[in-house]
Amino acid sequence: MKSRGFKADFAHFLIESGEHLLSVLWPAADARRAASLEIIARTAYTAEESACHYLETIGLDQHGAIRKTLELARRQDSNEQTHEDIFARDLGGLSLWIDRFVARHVAVIVYWLFAVVTLFDHELASLLGEAVEAEAVKTYQRMLLEQPEDWLHQPATPIASAYWKEEGNMWAARGDQEPKILRDVIEAIARDELDHVAANSHKALAF
Ligand SMILES: [Fe+2]
Ligand SMILES: [Fe+2]
Repeated sequence: MKSRGFKADFAHFLIESGEHLLSVLWPAADARRAASLEIIARTAYTAEESACHYLETIGLDQHGAIRKTLELARRQDSNEQTHEDIFARDLGGLSLWIDRFVARHVAVIVYWLFAVVTLFDHELASLLGEAVEAEAVKTYQRMLLEQPEDWLHQPATPIASAYWKEEGNMWAARGDQEPKILRDVIEAIARDELDHVAANSHKALAF
């Protein structure tokens, strides 16, 4: 967590507790865990976008901070979608019925939770989001250490390579090299998650 204070600690405690529960089903830092957690993380941004749009629509965006937050959440959402597609579609992380069932049901709960919390306390919603991203960083750091070398050395997946060719992709914008193998892709994703930690910490102070 980049943010400090009681509220940030409380948010981190809540997310860490939820993450411990989900680790019963997804203990290994593999494609199953990543695909499932990416669905959940992405849903939090979709909820934030919906709630910010609502707040803007009812005329509460006096200084443009809500619109800026909405646009940032939109960019984060599409970046998370790329992560989800790499692990779920390219690497088969959602091939088990139980993973799809749990991930999708948790995502629906997370959607409503983040939508309601954003409406009433956007700072807390952002801190919760920051805590989710701090856990994501740990997952990808573990993945780089714990997954077999032959898996990490497979070629960069089709969706990762296609993302690299997209105009304005976050990896090139940050100055990353083109990913050649899966290890490069996961390192880029870990850097995305670190960027999300910083962005959510910043958003917590937005309005
Ligand atoms: Fe992600
Ligand atoms: Fe993220």
